[in-house]
Amino acid sequence: MLDILYKRRSVRRFTTQEVEEEKIDRILEAGLLAPSSKSKYPCEFIVCDQSELNLKLSESKPGGASFLKYAPISIVITGDEEKSDVWIEDTSIAAAYMLLQAEKEDLGATWVQIRGREHNDNSSAEEYIQDLLGIPKNQKILAIIGIGHKDGVKEGRDESFLKREKIHRNHF
Ligand SMILES: Cc1cc2nc3c(=O)[nH]c(=O)nc-3n(C[C@H](O)[C@H](O)[C@H](O)COP(=O)(O)O)c2cc1C
Repeated sequence: MLDILYKRRSVRRFTTQEVEEEKIDRILEAGLLAPSSKSKYPCEFIVCDQSELNLKLSESKPGGASFLKYAPISIVITGDEEKSDVWIEDTSIAAAYMLLQAEKEDLGATWVQIRGREHNDNSSAEEYIQDLLGIPKNQKILAIIGIGHKDGVKEGRDESFLKREKIHRNHF
């Protein structure tokens, strides 16, 4: 597990190679296997594999989403606020699991923050995506994960990255 954690980086440049369906499946499996508060399982995943849709998703917010127009796959992660008061935590851990499985598949992936972000002066990024993909209003949107085959090599981390002073024991 630590090998994957050290290797994983946010990758925003992808080749045009199609992403194998079985890899997408295993990434979704990882999301579905994530723990869930009170076993409520409020998460849903919308897989977008059409370039016109990914172009529109890249315009969800002014900054930080533009690379999605080159992503062969975007997965929108939602959580039903009517099912769970902690849908943010549940969707976050599912997203983390999916990022790690993407690395395990040797795919590049990056989290695009949607929750709390604006599309423009009149609408939130969440409203824009709900309208675009027909997502019901109770399905709150945490993030989009853009996925594809890595274009280029991004160095992983090593032990020098670890700020061990952030670790405390028994007392801050
Ligand atoms: C909660 C969260 C929100 C993020 N939002 C974005 C985003 O909107 N766009 C983006 O390109 N990267 C986003 N990232 C990726 C971070 O920029 C990235 O994790 C950080 O620069 C550290 O780099 P690394 O993932 O390669 O270790 C986000 C990451 C997290 C955890």
